[in-house]
Amino acid sequence: MLKNLVRVLRGGRKKGPSLEEESLLAQLDLTRLPRHVAIIMDGNGRWAQKRGLPRTSGHRAGVESLRETVRTCAELGIGYLTVYAFSTENWKRPRDEVDVLMDLLVEYLHREIEELCANNIRLHPIGRIQELPPHARKALEMAVSRTRNNQRMVLNLALNYGGRVELVDAVRSIVKEALAGNLDPEQINEFTISSHLYTAGQPDPDLLIRPSGDYRVSNFLLWQLSYTEFWMTSVMWPDFRRVHLLQALVDFQQRERRFGGLNRGEKKCSGTES
Ligand code: FPP
Repeated sequence: MLKNLVRVLRGGRKKGPSLEEESLLAQLDLTRLPRHVAIIMDGNGRWAQKRGLPRTSGHRAGVESLRETVRTCAELGIGYLTVYAFSTENWKRPRDEVDVLMDLLVEYLHREIEELCANNIRLHPIGRIQELPPHARKALEMAVSRTRNNQRMVLNLALNYGGRVELVDAVRSIVKEALAGNLDPEQINEFTISSHLYTAGQPDPDLLIRPSGDYRVSNFLLWQLSYTEFWMTSVMWPDFRRVHLLQALVDFQQRERRFGGLNRGEKKCSGTES
């Protein structure tokens, strides 16, 4: 089993897993991996400032962490990965920084599209995508279209995303259906809400990873995180590597999840019918 995992994680790379990675892999139970991992990619700015670099260098370095994390999650067999790339509040940042983030998004999509396809990963942007600049929307349309039949893993890229705005959009859509006579308000339940979110049809995240030492949810997946296990680290996102992901997964497997009950039980997924 370990040998198989090592081979899987070595992939096409020259450098195989480190000793620590191998030890973590040996502890990992592949049959009990989280189905859905969510990540708040935080700490890019502080990483750069510590090195006397502009904040945007931190974002650029963060793309490498994203690339490695996406690949490892897909190789391990995680079904859904959601990453917080740009929040509805991030528009408050200086114009230059916002522009660089949008350009990085376009660059990332063009550079990674072949890798996403080769690894059978479907890109699913979540957020108010219609409000992004045209070049970002165009690159997203290309990536969504090219990856639409991929089935190994869904990569939710949260862009112009806010948990509260997502709920506003869900409420609007539910009210429209009710006013059109297609939905009886008395029949609205938790599943109705889940199925009107950007993540409709997906299981809720089992594990949330937040690097950079802050202990906040930052308006991320507010509905979906109800019973998610949190794993925080002081490592800044640009330094986040495969070893940290494996640490989070091993730690996750040591938790007892009770979902409000008394015994270990099956996960209640409000966003999925499966
Ligand atoms: C938060 O760090 C990070 C962001 C607002 C952007 C995240 C973007 C990336 C990781 C690059 C990859 C992105 C795309 C679009 C593919 P921060 O700047 O708030 O860090 P700080 O808290 O240290 O200031």
